[in-house]
Amino acid sequence: MKSEFLKYQAQTSPYPLALEISHAKGSYIYDTNKKAYLDFVAGVSACTLGHSHPKVIEAIKNQADKYLHVMVYGEYAQQPAVQLCQFMAKHLPDPLEATYLVNSGTEAIEGAIKLARRVTGRSQIIAAHNAYHGNTMGSLSLMDFEERKAPFRPLLPDISHITFNYEPHFKHITQKTAAVIVETIQGGAGFIEPTNDYLAKLKTRCHEVGALLILDEIQPGIGRTGKLFGFQNYNVIPDIVVTGKGLGGGLPIGAFTASKTHMDTLQNSPKLGHITTFGGNPLIAASALATLKQVVNSDLMSEVLNKEKLIKKHLKHPLITKIRGRGLMLAALTTSEDITNQVILEAQNQGLILFWLLFEPKALRITPPLTISNEELIKGCGIIIDLLNKISDQNKS
Ligand SMILES: Cc1ncc(COP(=O)(O)O)c(C=O)c1O
Repeated sequence: MKSEFLKYQAQTSPYPLALEISHAKGSYIYDTNKKAYLDFVAGVSACTLGHSHPKVIEAIKNQADKYLHVMVYGEYAQQPAVQLCQFMAKHLPDPLEATYLVNSGTEAIEGAIKLARRVTGRSQIIAAHNAYHGNTMGSLSLMDFEERKAPFRPLLPDISHITFNYEPHFKHITQKTAAVIVETIQGGAGFIEPTNDYLAKLKTRCHEVGALLILDEIQPGIGRTGKLFGFQNYNVIPDIVVTGKGLGGGLPIGAFTASKTHMDTLQNSPKLGHITTFGGNPLIAASALATLKQVVNSDLMSEVLNKEKLIKKHLKHPLITKIRGRGLMLAALTTSEDITNQVILEAQNQGLILFWLLFEPKALRITPPLTISNEELIKGCGIIIDLLNKISDQNKS
């Protein structure tokens, strides 16, 4: 399969891992040689309940027996999407009540940008340095890495950047600003948590000047930090919350949620302020609803912080300088990019899936499914420590 994969499936990564997948179950992915890989990545924070969770599969099968796509977004009342949006409203704080369902995280970011512009009548969007919000033209515009943006210009105008956790930059948020968008926990930058009430202060500053605060929860959302939404750890309620990834239970989804009053601006002058064919797709909504219900109605979230402690306890090594992040969104930083690369590549040979972060080359991504067991966590950490010991020994000799 590998040569066909490289030939026919368009590639943008110069070095794809090219694991040939047979199937996946629980915390394990199996290759076509029947080798099992313990999954410490969860499809990049997407497989909240691991692989092929029975509740998710049952919901998908039940829905598949009833109907698939029947109409474009927002015309027909379809139970899975209605119940999903209602469930989100019930578990989000006021006034976050109305959810627009789309097909990916980046598309939800696009919707949030449009909504902020529509609500405020302003155009400027402020994002954070080292942020990642997706790769379509609007989301790409929010990124501050010129080498990744330059070949695709012109992008959205009126975008500027502030430094995450740096309050003096609040002065750049003015009456020209439609919205400030930040990740609740910066992902690609290295799983950097907000400190010193940063997000609450950021919201106060936004509201002083009539701007909206958009929080990108695409990675921290859906239980990964021990709360259903990451911002619930930080004493803040955004004006717009954007979710995706882990919401879908392994199927593609994105969503942006705001107050009904704000969301209604997309309905008038012009009408149809946002359109999608497949957003709210019944199969995907059924999978997302089953995922959310399982996260909320189990002890998965209450176990997340214990699992964080366990990982930190078992990942002590002189070549690991620190572990950043919260819950099951952790980045173990090694002493060099080269060591990180060796560990990720060799771990795969040893049957452990690890991965990189976009902008922090020394980070080992540890974002397992929330359903991973303590034994599996200890086993995976043991593989990492053995590899680091081997690298230490090689460096000595
Ligand atoms: C914080 C954050 N925002 C947005 C996105 C984009 O989501 P998608 O890849 O579903 O478009 C990602 C994906 O990695 C992300 O981590």
